[in-house]
Amino acid sequence: MRKFIQRALNKLSKLDQEQIRALLYDLASENETLEMVLNSMTDGVLVTDLEHKIIFTNQGVHTLLPMLRSEPEEHLLWEAVADKEIASFLKESVKKNSQREEEEFTLDGSGPDRTLSFSVVPVNRDDEPHGNLILVSDITDRRKREARLRRAESLASLTTLAAGVAHEIKNPLGSIGIHIQLIQKALKQKQCLDEETAGRYLEIITEEIERLNGIVVDFLFAVRPMDTSMKRSTVNGVVEELIEFIKYELEENQVKLDTKLQRNLPKVDLDEKYMKQALINIIKNGVAAMNQGGTLKIVTREDQGFVHIDISDSGIGMSEEQLSKIFEPYYTTKEFGSGLGLTVVYKVVREHNGEVSVHSRENQGTTFTISLPIPDSEKRLLDWKGEEE
Ligand SMILES: Nc1ncnc2c1ncn2[C@@H]1O[C@H](COP(=O)(O)OP(=O)(O)OP(=O)(O)O)[C@@H](O)[C@H]1O
Ligand SMILES: [Mg+2]
Repeated sequence: MRKFIQRALNKLSKLDQEQIRALLYDLASENETLEMVLNSMTDGVLVTDLEHKIIFTNQGVHTLLPMLRSEPEEHLLWEAVADKEIASFLKESVKKNSQREEEEFTLDGSGPDRTLSFSVVPVNRDDEPHGNLILVSDITDRRKREARLRRAESLASLTTLAAGVAHEIKNPLGSIGIHIQLIQKALKQKQCLDEETAGRYLEIITEEIERLNGIVVDFLFAVRPMDTSMKRSTVNGVVEELIEFIKYELEENQVKLDTKLQRNLPKVDLDEKYMKQALINIIKNGVAAMNQGGTLKIVTREDQGFVHIDISDSGIGMSEEQLSKIFEPYYTTKEFGSGLGLTVVYKVVREHNGEVSVHSRENQGTTFTISLPIPDSEKRLLDWKGEEE
């Protein structure tokens, strides 16, 4: 309670009528100001007491939630909201009364769909629980903007990919053209084309057609939307399975494996199949960079809301200039590389809302780091465990 009100209450019997009137007037006008501020917010604000009865609603909440009772005050929170899913989320959250709970709901009313985000925050007074504050925001536009940005991003990468394809198919097409011309010329001049030469020309043409086919297949893999299906999983599990899978190949290439997996990492949302593919692409590059043998190090760790996977090799490393190009589709320095390995890595990690970063030193080695966001609910679980200890 405000100190001056406390003081006034203590000496209420000594105050004359005029002073009491002035005090009430001050209080009422302060109240009105607060109400005015709350009502001019576009976000919805709803306050409940310890019995979960609604004690305050601002105008915003009525605009955002048409399914709210017209006079919600004095009703139990979940009984005032005529939407089963929202009501049950609110009921569970206020009953926990321990930490902030958040959830998004999409309302499909008569107009266009709207996405609302709900946050339930416990309110304390003098360190004693006092009820809950429920904040409601309309995040439809934000979600739309994000989707637009993602589309623009994938369109931009499609343009680079298309340019890459155009560049890639030039050579095989040229070579096919030349060999067809050679055959045509021989036929025109009635020159006898011996079987061996004709066979060689045709073989080259077939090889080039296969190369073209490979380019198209890789291109399609790189541009197709991924049919990811995310499951809450442990990164260490995926890494351990992968190690089983690659250990013979490492041995064959005289590559030592050094792993350091942090125990009890929080779970993250993973499509294990795609994530394994991304990790394999990075490992294969690492092995290729250590043609004299070396050490491949795999580390998992948690830091600042992310689970990180570091994959380091002690290979040839890369120059700054090379580093700036490695995620570009078709960039390769290998005779038989497609140059799509890291494009796929980038795409898979983005699909997981994660990031991939690289550090490299020429003749010393390279480290790729994949960082995956820890979902909020896992973070809460962590806090919770921390408190228990
Ligand atoms: N660990 C690494 N050390 C050194 N250079 C690397 C490493 N990883 C990638 N590179 C460089 O980046 C280029 C692109 O890699 P990316 O995996 O996309 O294609 P690629 O390995 O050449 O072909 P693909 O993976 O399709 O067989 C490689 O050709 C290589 O020059
Ligand atoms: Mg590669």
